[in-house]
Amino acid sequence: MKHEKVLVLDFGGQYNQLIARRVRDLGVYCDLKPCDMTAEQIRDYAPIGIIFTGGPNSVNDASAPHISEEIFHLGIPVLGICYGCQLIAYTLGGRVERAAASEYGKREFTFCKDSPLSEGIPSASICWMSHTDHVTAVPPGFEVLAQTKTCPVTVFGDSVRKIYGVQFHPEVVHSEYGNVLMKNFLYRVCKAKGDWTMKNFVAEQTERLREKLAGKRVLCAMSGGVDSAVAATLVHRAAGDRLTCVFVDHGLLRKHEAEEVMSVFKEKLGMNLIKADAGERFLKKLAGVADPECKRKAIGEEFIRVFEEESKKIGAVDFLIQGTIYPDVIESGKGKSAVIKSHHNVGGLPSVVEFKEIVEPLRDLFKDEVRRVGTELGLPDSVVYRQPFPGPGLAVRIMGEVTREKLQTLRDADCIFREEIARAGLERQIWQYFAVITDSRTVGVQGDFRTYENVIALRAVTSVDAMTADWAKIPYEVLERVSGRIANEVPHANRIVYDITSKPPATIEWE
Ligand code: XMP
Repeated sequence: MKHEKVLVLDFGGQYNQLIARRVRDLGVYCDLKPCDMTAEQIRDYAPIGIIFTGGPNSVNDASAPHISEEIFHLGIPVLGICYGCQLIAYTLGGRVERAAASEYGKREFTFCKDSPLSEGIPSASICWMSHTDHVTAVPPGFEVLAQTKTCPVTVFGDSVRKIYGVQFHPEVVHSEYGNVLMKNFLYRVCKAKGDWTMKNFVAEQTERLREKLAGKRVLCAMSGGVDSAVAATLVHRAAGDRLTCVFVDHGLLRKHEAEEVMSVFKEKLGMNLIKADAGERFLKKLAGVADPECKRKAIGEEFIRVFEEESKKIGAVDFLIQGTIYPDVIESGKGKSAVIKSHHNVGGLPSVVEFKEIVEPLRDLFKDEVRRVGTELGLPDSVVYRQPFPGPGLAVRIMGEVTREKLQTLRDADCIFREEIARAGLERQIWQYFAVITDSRTVGVQGDFRTYENVIALRAVTSVDAMTADWAKIPYEVLERVSGRIANEVPHANRIVYDITSKPPATIEWE
């Protein structure tokens, strides 16, 4: 089935992925594409509507990204947001100027004229602004539809040509009726039908995979993470026993985690899942290694070796599954930045496995869509809402050398922290929460005796994408219970501290 789709042209604003996610949440498939697409390419792509995103530039700068006027002659409805709104005015003969003062944050705006965009929105409501330039004269044929006290053209449009500009950010939750405005654009202006649902996705993708994988052998590296779990479950529906999953247990997982992977995927879902018990091998490789980067490299390399050995036992396959998701597709090919940590993931596997083709069943989905597909496929919440967990596992939460004893202490402390967060109902509000075992020991007193034991740090952050993070303001009572339980129940821990650092300057993981 061919979906209706919206094209979101990316002019470099910070909320661009959010715009695309909102459109999808409203039931319409969309792609986020670079802003240099030509009118011809857009016509071939055949969207039912186009959205220009915000961006950091000023349209009056010669070096800023501009567009050809031809795009407006395609007869496709357009919504310009922030920079995109100014771009419409600039391209079609209006005027854009620097405002006397930048507007940033919540503002009240009022509609001065009705349009399909304003249906169901009160005449005055709150929007989220973030701009320095603004439109001071609309192009010929356009009307001013809404204003704020300081922004003379907050919304403008031409209902005949179906072109609209919005100075504020409707995609941000602080814009009270932003979602209604976007829905109006999709359903009243573009006449969308809303055929993008995860139920449809599962049905279509299963069918597509059934054809593609007919009679073929497929291999998947299962980590227990959401993406590989959902990808494997989807492929399992289509390929059944021709799919083999390999789960490398590097011995650096949290308490009960390996057992849960086996119970869900092998026992409940009946997948052909092979577990490679490699904990001893990894511990040997990590003996005497204290430097964070050396640890990460050692684990990454050993992981690939173990996987290579397992895949040799299976023999050549036709397809290798990768859990690539849409943000990875958007990000790949963007500029290089400094390496803060060498990430361990399955990216290195294709070089050691014998296969013909890679299959990426989730490459069109955002993370929240992957989770919804997981639920649709019947995966439990513990898998679907599992918090992000680094490939090198607990090794990056043990400062200094990784030893069996430290692993045991950390697992027990971490388990208590997770249990108490769940008991307080905070699981979904906190991005990641975990324990760290530091390389400090301090003096304590337990009973009437002096102790000299490890310091455990608790780390919990809120975040939307892990690029930045804020330390979570966990209620004191919860922290008190965690601290009391760790001190009482976990051997070799006599002091518990709470990490109150944001990212930046710290990272989320300690190593
Ligand atoms: P940092 O510590 O850099 O972490 O702020 C950002 C996010 O990435 C996760 N993380 C990893 N994920 N392989 C992964 O797949 C890794 O090697 C790795 N290291 C960190 C971290 O848990 C956080 O969500």
